[in-house]
This record gives sequence, C-alpha cells and structure tokens, in this order.
Amino acid sequence: MGTLRLKIDAADPESEASRRAIAEAAKILGGGGTVAFPTETVYGLGANALNAEAVKKIFAAKERPGWDPLIVHIGDRAMLEMVAAEVDQDAHRLMEAFWPGPLTLLLAKSPRIPELVTAGLERVGVRMPAHPVARALLLAAGVPVAAPSANRFGRISPTTAEHVAEDLAGRIDAILDGGETTHGVESTVVEVRADRCVIYRPGVITREQIAAVTAGEVSSRQELREEEAAQAAPSPGMGGRHYAPRARLVLVEGEGPVQVEQFAHAVRQCEEAGGAVGVMLPDAFREAVVERGVRVFRWGRWDDAEELAQRLYAGLRELDAAGVTAIVCPMPRAEGIGVAVRDRLFRAGNRE
Ligand code: TXA
Ligand code: MG
Repeated sequence: MGTLRLKIDAADPESEASRRAIAEAAKILGGGGTVAFPTETVYGLGANALNAEAVKKIFAAKERPGWDPLIVHIGDRAMLEMVAAEVDQDAHRLMEAFWPGPLTLLLAKSPRIPELVTAGLERVGVRMPAHPVARALLLAAGVPVAAPSANRFGRISPTTAEHVAEDLAGRIDAILDGGETTHGVESTVVEVRADRCVIYRPGVITREQIAAVTAGEVSSRQELREEEAAQAAPSPGMGGRHYAPRARLVLVEGEGPVQVEQFAHAVRQCEEAGGAVGVMLPDAFREAVVERGVRVFRWGRWDDAEELAQRLYAGLRELDAAGVTAIVCPMPRAEGIGVAVRDRLFRAGNRE
C-alpha cells in the first residue's frame, strides 16, 4: 500500500494548500481509510470510529492486540452524543476545564461505537484534541475518529511525521504532516466514578489540575489497586512493557549532586560492560559524561519538565536508531508532568 504524504504549511495552516491537505485526509477517513495526524500530545493513527471495518485497519497496521482499547477523538460537543451514552457532573466539569486538550475521559459507551473500539469494555475513552490540525480534520471528517498513537504496538510514540513513517509507511493510507507535537507525552486517561476520579494513565493534565475542578477524591490505578487488592484482571494497556526502545534502559533516581554522581557512575559501568552507550543528557548533567564514545542526546533543561516531556520520545528514538545497546537516563521528579515522564520511562525500561 502506498502511503500518501500530506503536508500542512506550518507558517500558514489556513493556506489553500493546507486546507486541501486536510480535505484530502478527511475524504480518506470518510471512505473508511486510515490517516495519521498530529495532536498536541503525539501523532495518532485515525479511522472512522463508527465503522468497524475501518477500525480493524488500525489494529492491523499497528499489529495491536484486540484487547487494547482505542481513544475516540471528537471535534466538537455535538460529536460527543455519537460516542457517549451519558455524562455525569464531574465529567462535565473536566470537559469544561480541559477540553479541547490532552485529557481522555472514560465514559459510558454509546451503542453506535463498535465493540472493537473499546475491546468489549462498557466505557469508551473520549477526547477533544486542541491541536488546530487535529480539530480541522475532525470537523472536516464530521465523524468521531478512533486513534491510538501512530506507532507499531509496543514501540515509542511518534512526535513527528517522520517518526510515523518509520513505523507505518506502506501500512496506512496517509500521513498528515503538521510538524512536531507540542507536549510529547500522551493525554491523561481518567475514569470518573460517582465518588472519585481514577487516573488510568498519568499524562499532560496533572492530578493536581484534576483535583482542583472535581468534587470527589482523585486516585491513581496503583492506589485503587492497593485498596481493592481483591480485584483481579489488569487493565488493558496499563502494565507490561510499552513505549519501548530496543536498547536496555538504565534509569537513575536521586536528586541534586547525588543523582549526577550516580548518573556518571551508571554511564561508566555501561561503558565498561562493553557495547555502545547512549545517554539522555539534561543540561544539569553535562559534566557527568566525559567518556568520548558515548552517544549523547541533549534532552533539555532539567528544571523544565515540559521540555523534557516534549523531547523524551524523540531522544529515545534517536539513540535507538543510532544502534546503542544501553541508554542511561536520569529520572525527573514525580511532580506535574514529571509523573507522566516517569511512568513512560518505567514502562520503557520494563523488560518483562
Ligand atoms: O494523547 C493521546 O492519548 C494519544 C493521542 C493520539 O490522542 N493517544 C493514545 O492512544 O495515546 P493509545 O491507544 O496509544 O493509548 C490509549 C490507552 C490504551 O492503551 C488504554 O490503556 C487506555 O488508553 N484506554 C483507552 N480506552 C480505554 C477504555 N475504554 N478503558 C480503559 N482504558 C482505556
Ligand atoms: Mg500508544
């Protein structure tokens, strides 16, 4: 299959050429095809969420197992009715506060959404993205669009059209190239219950932000699991290895000079063990790497968690593509979007 490359003019997203690219992509979605498109988090691989045959193509292209549900993207509130059966008070509050934006709500599913989309679950993940290209595409298509991240299953999420092509060229109908994504990590996935909100996946919208607008308590899956220790089945897509580079990932915890010291030590150890070593190197750690053979990705400012999130996947991909066998990476603090960065790094480093 040939994959069409459609380009948005970054300098002028409203230009005639940009509009044509969006119209073309919307037509492909309308015809039951697959289109990768930028969102403010990562690139998604979209298909008409109301068309089971179209959604099947997403699973096939990504080699994604059928137990992992997809997020449905909507362009406006009117589309919400095609997707969700009912929406309660706290969910409304969250939509008011964070839509359009990087927040996915797990809501009671409308019967119009095929089972395939939710992997048989009763709730459907819904989000209204803020990225202007994503919004324009959704509105032009006129249907809700199911879209997981546009990478092969288990691989690193794409933050550029080039990343998408690396994984999916020849497997999907088109890539809508709208440049680099804004945040670099995925949306926060939240289930709103009668008494509390449960964060299924930490993301761009932080726990503190959610707590500020909802009435009930906010818990993570982990905390809930500890409370309901009896509960058996793991949630889809939440455990195991994910977002994974081929290289072994060495994560370095700590704080201040001690962490820099530990980091330098880990790099030395990897060098001595042989093989090619790559490092995710924030500015504050520059002094720590003196070895000349080490492949460096300049990650960004250590005190700027947004920047570290935005450049995380690009760095892992770059080091992986350079063929390193180990990647040494310092762990940011568990604060704000740092919680999401840590979650992705833990999963990328999980070798099970
Ligand atoms: O930022 C994002 O959320 C990106 C962009 C493209 O919107 N999408 C994304 O989709 O990250 P994906 O498929 O790579 O990750 C979605 C995850 C699933 O793996 C699953 O863990 C959770 O969201 N999820 C989706 N629907 C769910 C449902 N009905 N119940 C529980 N978890 C769900
Ligand atoms: Mg994904």
